[in-house]
Amino acid sequence: MGKTIIISNRLPVKVKENNGNYELSASEGGLATGLGTIYKQDGNIWIGWPGVTVDEPAHQEQIANKLHDLSLVPVYLTQEEYNEYYEGFSNTVLWPVFHYYASTYTTYKPSNWDYYRSVNHKFRDVVLEHAQPGDTIWIHDYQLLLLPALIRQQLPDVTIGFFLHIPFPSQEMFRLIPWRMELLKGMLGADLVGFHTFDDVRHFLSSVSRIMPMQVSSNTITCDERIVVAEAYPMGIDEQKYASLTQEPEVQHQAEQIKLVFKDVNLILSIDRLDYSKGILHRLQAFELLLKENPEYVGKVALYMVVVPSRDQVPQYMELHNQIDKKVGNINAMYRTMDWTPIHYYYRSVPIETLSALYSTADVALVTPMRDGMNLVCKEYVASRTNNDGVLILSEMAGASRELIDALIVNPNNVIQVRDAIIQAVNMPLQEQQTRMKQLRHAVSKFNISHWVNLFMSGLSETKFLQRAMQ
Ligand code: UDP
Ligand code: G6P
Repeated sequence: MGKTIIISNRLPVKVKENNGNYELSASEGGLATGLGTIYKQDGNIWIGWPGVTVDEPAHQEQIANKLHDLSLVPVYLTQEEYNEYYEGFSNTVLWPVFHYYASTYTTYKPSNWDYYRSVNHKFRDVVLEHAQPGDTIWIHDYQLLLLPALIRQQLPDVTIGFFLHIPFPSQEMFRLIPWRMELLKGMLGADLVGFHTFDDVRHFLSSVSRIMPMQVSSNTITCDERIVVAEAYPMGIDEQKYASLTQEPEVQHQAEQIKLVFKDVNLILSIDRLDYSKGILHRLQAFELLLKENPEYVGKVALYMVVVPSRDQVPQYMELHNQIDKKVGNINAMYRTMDWTPIHYYYRSVPIETLSALYSTADVALVTPMRDGMNLVCKEYVASRTNNDGVLILSEMAGASRELIDALIVNPNNVIQVRDAIIQAVNMPLQEQQTRMKQLRHAVSKFNISHWVNLFMSGLSETKFLQRAMQ
């Protein structure tokens, strides 16, 4: 049995320069946090970008040595690659199109595409340096859609799994991309292509059958006499880690402090990376509507909002950051009183202990993305509610809404409905909170991260078995 090589654009740790030294810290984002706790088994390695652009070979070596101890292998990007492949094609073409923001946010620059291709080749070369016969290769996410086929060309018999962590859009949307066929061909280099939801699988299959076109039967595609399977595997979290974190002395200390500060108010929690897909502005509108039309809640509720800086040199993200700053400023200026502030806004990432203290003390978690592959924040909130209380308000556009059906499910575009859900949440009797939360906790613990990895890996073995049986 060989090792598993995980490959994603971003490694689970990021490197920062501090006075000539390189320091490591945890990466943000669901892919890194989700897989970060389980990859270190059985000699596995993880290949990806360490989050800095470093050109000096001596510095690259220094970083590689640090990462080596964690079984991580860096792929370095030059500044041009960062601009064109990462900010450009990945986050100005694929991210908006896959999240249904194509018309407003996408430009199709050929140079972005050229870099996307060349960086996928660069990743391939690093994978080939480390792959041994019998290894399983597991590629993650939209930044590396071409990589499965690039590896397949060099290693025709190798086992390759691919998982997309963001939604796969309807083929009407996907076909807008000038290089749609090349992207699909790239993904079809895998044996098994995994998505968070059945809708994503359906959209992918309809793109394959209409755009390529290729023969699709049920969830199986016949591609150059090789079959490729597409399947839904909703990603889970390490729920025990989040439950036990709440017992740590540091977390309990911070939780006490939060309770003290917010002792007379219902605390509503909102945590996201800076991203237009997260629905932050609509959420603020719903909160504003509550204060405007339901003045009895002024002084009685507070929104604790953490926005983690992300892709902040991409113009749409920069603009969103300004809009959020302005909106929060306006709401606070309009409604704050001498002893009460409506929105406690933090534009930074927070340590995991603070995250856990917030999850375990907030009365309500307000998770209202406009579109989200899965969303792990809502699952982390549920896993942290070891007393079985608290209310989750969840967007129906998050992949997680398919599993977390006992949340208050809302359409994030309907700000009146979101406002009403906030009212329902802050008034919900404890017994109803507990009934719902127990069900939610059951779902999060049953379909946890180990379950997800095992299901995907068995799906991959079954696909290989099927391929051999059909030869
Ligand atoms: N997160 C973090 N630091 C923070 C705030 C959040 O590491 O300061 C993590 C959070 O715990 C979660 C991830 O970022 O695991 C966000 O994942 P999610 O799937 O919700 O959204 P994504 O960012 O992947 O779109
Ligand atoms: C989402 C994507 C990941 C990405 C993460 C953080 O979770 O699915 O692939 O790593 O966001 O974004 P970043 O651009 O900082 O890597």
